Amino acid sequence: MFSLEANIIRQTPCGAGFYLLELEAPDVSSRAAPGQFVMVRVGDDYDPLLRRPLSVHDAGDGRIRLLYRVVGKGTGRLSRRGEGERVGLLGPLGNGFEVRPPLDTAALVAGGRGVAPMLFLARRIRRECPSARLILFFGARTGEELVRLEAFENLNVEMRLATEDGSKGTKGLVTQLVRGSLLSDAEVRIYACGPMPMLKALGPVAAEQSIPAQVSLEAHMSCGLGVCRGCVVKTKNGYAHVCQDGPVFPLDAPDWEVRT
Ligand SMILES: Cc1cc2nc3c(=O)[nH]c(=O)nc-3n(C[C@H](O)[C@H](O)[C@H](O)COP(=O)(O)OP(=O)(O)OC[C@H]3O[C@@H](n4cnc5c(N)ncnc54)[C@H](O)[C@@H]3O)c2cc1C
Ligand code: FES
Repeated sequence: MFSLEANIIRQTPCGAGFYLLELEAPDVSSRAAPGQFVMVRVGDDYDPLLRRPLSVHDAGDGRIRLLYRVVGKGTGRLSRRGEGERVGLLGPLGNGFEVRPPLDTAALVAGGRGVAPMLFLARRIRRECPSARLILFFGARTGEELVRLEAFENLNVEMRLATEDGSKGTKGLVTQLVRGSLLSDAEVRIYACGPMPMLKALGPVAAEQSIPAQVSLEAHMSCGLGVCRGCVVKTKNGYAHVCQDGPVFPLDAPDWEVRT
């Protein structure tokens, strides 16, 4: 884990309140694994005081990219930073997705900003399991929120899109798309990140077809280091810190009865 001030190379709006932030951070770039995150000091002062957790969207060539959506004060402040400025970073943190052969089909299931860790994951799967079929199941409320599709297309990732308003892809929830699309007679794995109801709904879909699944959980985080206990979740084996034990867990690990 590194603590550093990273130069902003560029920051690009991607639509629907999403931003792509590219940072010079060679140590983080070379150590990061898909599904890990960094804690970002969003301003050059202490307002807001706490760093914000953001997944590594992509890494390589001494750089990391973060894809985030503006939802409040911290992400709003970060979106106003620009080229040549520096941001404080802590990371890479947490346990990421496990990628190992044999793998015939990887189903990347993303809801909204949950697409953020999926590009780095797709890139890693391409490297570790070159013959694997990669499918991105990506759901959002509207078509405008289905961001960064071209980056996945460049990695030859197949797309299955769903929107709640039907403006792009299939009308409905992304979990309905996953159900009926996957075969259980090959080495298939599900990797998911998105809102809790989406992750919870994936449980029966994966179980019906006996597909192993890993999910990245979100929780409010103050420290990202296992100190504040702000991110504790109940799992079937007791309590876990999302920041240190996760954010990626096997789908059947969280106690979904106490999650919404
Ligand atoms: C491990 C991890 C990785 C993440 N990766 C990304 C990412 O790559 N891209 C991205 O856009 N977002 C990501 N998030 C969510 C992101 O950290 C929050 O959206 C951000 O901290 C909000 O800060 P804010 O000051 O803008 O909003 P705030 O003013 O703090 O909050 C605005 C709203 O967002 C909710 N919120 C804030 N933090 C969280 C959280 N951690 N989980 C769920 N709801 C929250 C609040 O309850 C409130 O309703 C991640 C969260 C975690 C835990
Ligand atoms: S965020 Fe502080 S213990 Fe996890």
